[in-house]
Amino acid sequence: MNLQGKNILLGITGGIAAYKIPELVRLLKKAGANVRVVMTHAAQQFVTPLTMQSLSGEPVRTELMDPEQESTMGHIELARWADVILIAPATANFLSQMTHGIANDLLTTLCLAADSEIIVAPAMNHVMWRHPATQVNVETLKGFGVQFEGPVPGDLACGETGQGRMQEPEELFVALQHYFSQSILSGVNVVITAGPTYEAIDPVRFIGNRSSGKMGFALAEAFVRAGANVSLVAGPVSLDTPQGVKRYDVESAEQMSNQVSSLLSGCDLFAACAAVADYRVVDSAQQKIKKQDREMSLQLIPNEDILASVAGEGNPPFTLGFAAETENLLEYAQAKLERKKLDVIAANLVGAEEGGFGAEKNALTVVWNEGKVSLPMQNKKKLARELVDIVARLYLQKKNNTENYRLIQGLK
Ligand code: PMT
Repeated sequence: MNLQGKNILLGITGGIAAYKIPELVRLLKKAGANVRVVMTHAAQQFVTPLTMQSLSGEPVRTELMDPEQESTMGHIELARWADVILIAPATANFLSQMTHGIANDLLTTLCLAADSEIIVAPAMNHVMWRHPATQVNVETLKGFGVQFEGPVPGDLACGETGQGRMQEPEELFVALQHYFSQSILSGVNVVITAGPTYEAIDPVRFIGNRSSGKMGFALAEAFVRAGANVSLVAGPVSLDTPQGVKRYDVESAEQMSNQVSSLLSGCDLFAACAAVADYRVVDSAQQKIKKQDREMSLQLIPNEDILASVAGEGNPPFTLGFAAETENLLEYAQAKLERKKLDVIAANLVGAEEGGFGAEKNALTVVWNEGKVSLPMQNKKKLARELVDIVARLYLQKKNNTENYRLIQGLK
């Protein structure tokens, strides 16, 4: 499997098996992955940062408190960047630190701050591996959702034989490929609207709103991360296109509607995050309207409701709508869910002190016919991942038309 555009954070701790990691980086780079390496102090005794830098093509991070490195990409940003974190080799000491939430260097801090999957490839003496302290740590970490690859039985660097060898780089490479191929929305075609629309008054003035596009762009990124093919119809915003997303820039509601229509064939899931203007100006002026010493008024006509039109199609895609409200959040969201015949709606308060338009953070209440879930105030990127997780399960549940208990677990 091609790993094009996948962001893999590779943590190396101080075990002799570290000398095998350059081969893993070579394989990952060849498959198109973006690889960033973080090394503990002990790891640098076994393989040099320069080797890892040459192979990954990225500066290697070793220090938590390094102003120079933090200025290019802070440790939290680095944790967010990663689609997956692989710690290889992972020593007994490192597993113990992770278990207890110790964050006394860059790698342990990253693991604590990460919201992406963490995979560990332990390597140690077989007696250390079997020790009850290590086994308790392993079970605790599995309970936290950490995935283990190995260790496998074989000859160990210490001269003994037993279960303690790190999996070979080729096996770890396959494990990462497997991780990405498991993506829950693999092959699903998603169309998303994001940002505001501008409705022209004349060539220099418009009616707009305060949407920055951040929520919709974060949603696009989260859908890509879940394996979907994503087309993003973006109103006028100044945001970079998330990796792997096909972007279509539009300005007005009419342009957004036309662009969405052209993408609907083959669309499995439609997510309407844009703050589309409900009205446009009748006959916007061709030339700049000159100032006059009298009142003036604009005549407005309703725009098409893009979301309602998509949901009202003969064979509509799965539809996720948003509801931006300043009051009666749940009541209004529920009414929109029903009136627009949506599968699910994500309701947010706007105009409040925190969250909503333009902010970095947001909170959502996700409502569908049989249930609802509240997602607390948090960074929009993380929020989008949680939303996509719920929407993906509901989508698959509807598609398979079955009560799949594993998928809907915890959602009702
Ligand atoms: O962009 P950010 O600054 O990050 O802010 C995010 C957000 C607050 C804009 C976002 O989270 C959000 O709530 N988007 C929907 C905004 C909105 O227009 O809500 P609404 O309640 O007015 O519309 C209901 C739904 O119908 C929305 O899914 C909207 O996209 C859709 N709609 C509305 C009107 C219209 N003509 N066509 C539509 O498709």
